[in-house]
Amino acid sequence: MTPSTEIKRPNIKTELPGPKGREIIAADEKYVTPSYPRPDYKLVAEKGYGVWLEDADGNVFLDCNAGVAVCSTGHCHPEVVEAITEQTKRLMHMCGTDFYYHHMPDLGRKLNEICPIEGDTKTHFANSGAEAVETALKLAMYHTKRQKFISFFGSFHGRTLGALSLTSSKRAQRQGFARQALDVVHVPYPNKFRHFVTQKPVDEASIVKDCVDWIEQKIFQTTTPPSEVAGIVIEAVQGEGGYVPAPKAFLQAIRRICDEHGIMMIVDEVQSGMGRTGKMFAVEHSNVKPDIMCLAKGIGSGLPIGATVAKAEIMSWHKGAHASTFGGNPVCIASALKTIELLQNGLVDNARDTGKYLEDGLKKLQEKYKQIGDVRGYGMMLGVEFVKENGDPDAELRDKIEMACFNRGLIILGCGTSTIRWSPPLILTKENVDVALEIFDAAIAESL
Ligand SMILES: Cc1ncc(COP(=O)(O)O)c(C=O)c1O
Repeated sequence: MTPSTEIKRPNIKTELPGPKGREIIAADEKYVTPSYPRPDYKLVAEKGYGVWLEDADGNVFLDCNAGVAVCSTGHCHPEVVEAITEQTKRLMHMCGTDFYYHHMPDLGRKLNEICPIEGDTKTHFANSGAEAVETALKLAMYHTKRQKFISFFGSFHGRTLGALSLTSSKRAQRQGFARQALDVVHVPYPNKFRHFVTQKPVDEASIVKDCVDWIEQKIFQTTTPPSEVAGIVIEAVQGEGGYVPAPKAFLQAIRRICDEHGIMMIVDEVQSGMGRTGKMFAVEHSNVKPDIMCLAKGIGSGLPIGATVAKAEIMSWHKGAHASTFGGNPVCIASALKTIELLQNGLVDNARDTGKYLEDGLKKLQEKYKQIGDVRGYGMMLGVEFVKENGDPDAELRDKIEMACFNRGLIILGCGTSTIRWSPPLILTKENVDVALEIFDAAIAESL
């Protein structure tokens, strides 16, 4: 897979973090907000190339996190760098809210081609995932003339006030803030490894039924008449909540419910989209067609861009209803167009095939370690959940393993309560997987 390098393994030469890294961390502590939810280990990145990341002290890591599922084409993919460089020589900004340039319709046309939305689409451009979600919320309210939303426990949709009203994966995200800005009811997410009542594994049909009944028999009949619901917002694979895929039948049921009541089905593909699951979008695993989709992270290979794609007849709001100065920046779009080209020319397939190879390897480790309760996901969006003897989540063990991986030169990151997420660059090779699994295996053994 391009881009290839001669590097085969991580190379850790200093204590971690090293002296230069420690200086940067000290300055960060002095001048930067302490609110970032950084993990226990401290990575101070300096350079990235492909799947490799070099820290400020020259230590080389194998990156199986990709800047939290963002660097889909790997770090600084030469073709992406070239596309960005060429664009910066021509036009760096022109405020698409007031003027025209070809990049916005170019990417809009491409998204119309690749997004699994029925009929033609239109796109609103933003700068981040949260902004893409904000757009979807406003659009659903505008189109339906309704104000209520349904969101899922464990979900993460961003930290701006509208998106935060949906978000519910950790207490820290809401603690200390006023009541939620929007009228959102949270319902259980269909996690078949942890039923929302028993916290125990359950068969797929039962969890789907229980979660659907909760919506239709409980909240629709009490607090939330469906005729007042503007949108149901769902991640096809819950990301921050623990890399939990929604069963296909559940997404199909949400589609049915939305159709029956004129509700917008809003699928947040900010983390699961752009090839990560082995299809361009995770919702395609269930053949469901959303009304509105939210994209960000992997679409720009690292440049900040968010997009809200909706059926053309839904995105028909008045001039001035929504806009963003930087959203749809031509340099970010140049990066996105090149990224999509690379995804279509092999990286989605690699996410599927090499992702399966990684999944098989993780499942072998599950046979070896009873502390691995679950290995789940699609493609290169895989979660490994660590459990105690009694099946309860083992967050402490997960954190120890995360740290042991770091010390051995493998970057992975936790999510949910006790899960490690695998979200590598989609250029990862089987050879890289072998190295990553060998380190993961040793890190688990050392942490028990
Ligand atoms: C599913 C999902 N939606 C929205 C967001 C928010 O994106 P951003 O941090 O770019 O605002 C995230 C970020 O992790 C996410 O995973």
